[in-house]
Parts: sequence; structure tokens; C-alpha cells
Amino acid sequence: MRVEQIDTDDDVALGYLLAIHNASAHHDLPVEPDLSLSEMRQIAKGFGEADTEAILVRNDDGAVVGAGVVRMPTKDNLEIAEFLVEVHPYHRRQGVGTAIVEHLERVAIGNHRKSFSSQSGNMLGASPPSEPFAAKLGYVAVLAESQWTLRLPVAAKMLDDLEQASISHAGGYDIVCWQDRCPDELVDGQADLLRGMSTDAPHGDLAHEAQIWDGERVRSLEDTVLKMGNKSYLAGAVEKATGRLVSYTVIGVNKSTTESARQFATIVNRHHRGHRLGVLVKIANLRQLMEHSPATATIQTWNADTNTHMMRVNALLGFEASGHSTAWQKELAAGTPA
Ligand SMILES: CC(C)(COP(=O)(O)OP(=O)(O)OC[C@H]1O[C@@H](n2cnc3c(N)ncnc32)[C@H](O)[C@@H]1OP(=O)(O)O)[C@@H](O)C(=O)NCCC(=O)NCCS
Repeated sequence: MRVEQIDTDDDVALGYLLAIHNASAHHDLPVEPDLSLSEMRQIAKGFGEADTEAILVRNDDGAVVGAGVVRMPTKDNLEIAEFLVEVHPYHRRQGVGTAIVEHLERVAIGNHRKSFSSQSGNMLGASPPSEPFAAKLGYVAVLAESQWTLRLPVAAKMLDDLEQASISHAGGYDIVCWQDRCPDELVDGQADLLRGMSTDAPHGDLAHEAQIWDGERVRSLEDTVLKMGNKSYLAGAVEKATGRLVSYTVIGVNKSTTESARQFATIVNRHHRGHRLGVLVKIANLRQLMEHSPATATIQTWNADTNTHMMRVNALLGFEASGHSTAWQKELAAGTPA
């Protein structure tokens, strides 16, 4: 078996990484849409504000059988490392996963990281197949999330009725929509909201610190998302009194897989909760998506199982549970040299 580091500008190597990832992820959670090459390229490059190393593992016949990426944030969260660990389903139980994790841990420790995490997916009703693997390598489950799927189109009358039932609670706000790039006058509000996502969304026992966001980092994220080949649809709530963005939601549609969309962040600033803004921005964004992306047949999203508010909003809109994921974590004991 051989571990080799790949150049994240080498599309042939990235193609192997993508093929292993999609085969592995599809095996464990068939409803999760495949990633495209442009998305995998940005994951291997760390998705902005991070150092990475991406690897392939070949068996003794030279076939690529596993792949991994370690992502180490560079702006905040300087003690964590996030791992992608994937072994092709035909080549499991041969020590490949162990070789990947041991290599990524060495890279992380060499970069002074003390807390390592990785995610695995599984079908509804099944227990996480990676549990015995994670346990053997000293990792514990720290966050359970569920995948939710919404089939489109959603009935216009249902959205109208839900909006009618909510709008009277939100008299002090305007609901606005945009695509790809946040209007200049709202970008500082979006930076605050992104910081809020990093602290307010439930993280279970996953080690994390508040992320540092400003307008420049928002613009850099937008550039990365465009390079991923994603069209982004966003809707937000603007406080009438101040003109500040206090809530937003985003759905991404990759240009190579337009039939399935991904619902990413939804957040309401903590001082503006209780006005039904979460449901109102989601209604506006669903209408926008259905108008501009008629080929999109499903939207998938992930929520922590403890996030009862978000799950209630999603259930109102017709999302149904479709899968699970677990975040696994190992922390170096205090005093371990790094
Ligand atoms: C989890 C995963 C990485 C394991 O890869 P692998 O190459 O099969 O793992 P290894 O061969 O190194 O397994 C090491 C040990 O883990 C345990 N283990 C691994 N898979 C197991 C399984 N399905 N059932 C029971 N024990 C298992 C065993 O103790 C095994 O040692 P053994 O074969 O000598 O008994 C692989 O199944 C995978 O890619 N899953 C999808 C993505 C994922 O879950 N990533 C990891 C997140 S932590």
C-alpha cells in the first residue's frame, strides 16, 4: 500500500479523489447527491482560509483504493483539523482507512493541531457503519445530524398560506432576494450572520471557536462558491429601522447536477429571533429557486438532531428525514507535544 500526496491543480488526481469519494459516499448514503469535479477541487484546496493536504492510497497492484483530505483553518480555529476519509467499498477491511487516518493525523500534528474530526453518513434506521472503525482509532461521536429532503415543486398555495400565517409577526422587516453576490449595503450584516452560524448552530461536543468574518471574507467565499460551479440563491430579512441584514438563507445548485440542490446556512441574528424570519426567508428563497431553476427536483439539507427550531421550519415546508450523519472526534491529551 502506498500513500501519495496530490497536487490540487492536477485534475487527473482530483478525478481519482472524486471517484473514490462518490463511490464511498453513495455506498453508505445513496440519497446524497454526487459531488462534481469543481466542488471536489475546492474541498481539496480547503474551501478558503485553510491549509490542506490531499492524498490518494494505492494498493500493491497500483489501483487507487482510498483517499483523504486534511483541512486546517488558518484564520481562526487554529487547533482543529477536519478529515475526509474515504475507502472504496470494494477495498474495505484491508487497513486502507487506518493508513489514511494515521497519515492525516501526522500532518495535523505537524501543523500543531490538537483536535481531529471526520464525518460519516448512513441510511435512516441503520447504525453508523464507521462506528467500530472510529472507536478502534480512538474517535468518539460528538454530533448527530439528519439529512432532510424536499421534493419540488412545492405547492404555491402552501407557501402563500404559510407566509400569510407568519407575515404579521415580521412588520419591522423587508424580505429581499439576491443571487451569487450579496448587495454591498448588506455585506457587513452577512459577515455578522456567518460569524453567528459558527457559534449559534448546534455543534454538539465538536471542538470549535467563533469564526472571524468581515465583508472581504464574504466576497472571498462568494468567489470560491462560483469556482465550485455553484449558482447561489439567497433570501434575507432587512431590519427597516437600520437597513441591516439580520437573517439570510442560501441554496446552491451545481451546474453539473441541477436536478438536486443543497440548502446551506439559514440564520436569524439572535436579537431578531421570534419574528418568523426563518420561515419567511426560506419561503422567499424557495419561490426564487423554483422560478429560476425549474429543473431542480429535490433540495437536501443537514440539521443537528438537537436543532428543533430549524427542523420545525423545515417540516412546515415539507422536508422529510432521509439520512443521518455522525461527526467523530479525537482530541490529543493536554500536554501531548504537537
Ligand atoms: C470507515 C472506513 C474509512 C474504514 O475503512 P477501512 O479501510 O475498511 O478500515 P480498516 O481496514 O483500516 O479497518 C480498521 C479496523 O476498523 C474496524 N472496522 C472497520 N470497518 C469495520 C466494519 N465495517 N465492521 C466492523 N469493524 C470495522 C475493524 O476493527 C478494523 O480492523 P480489522 O479489519 O483488523 O478487524 C470506510 O468504511 C469508509 O470509507 N467509510 C465511508 C466514509 C467514512 O465513514 N469515513 C470515516 C469517518 S470516521
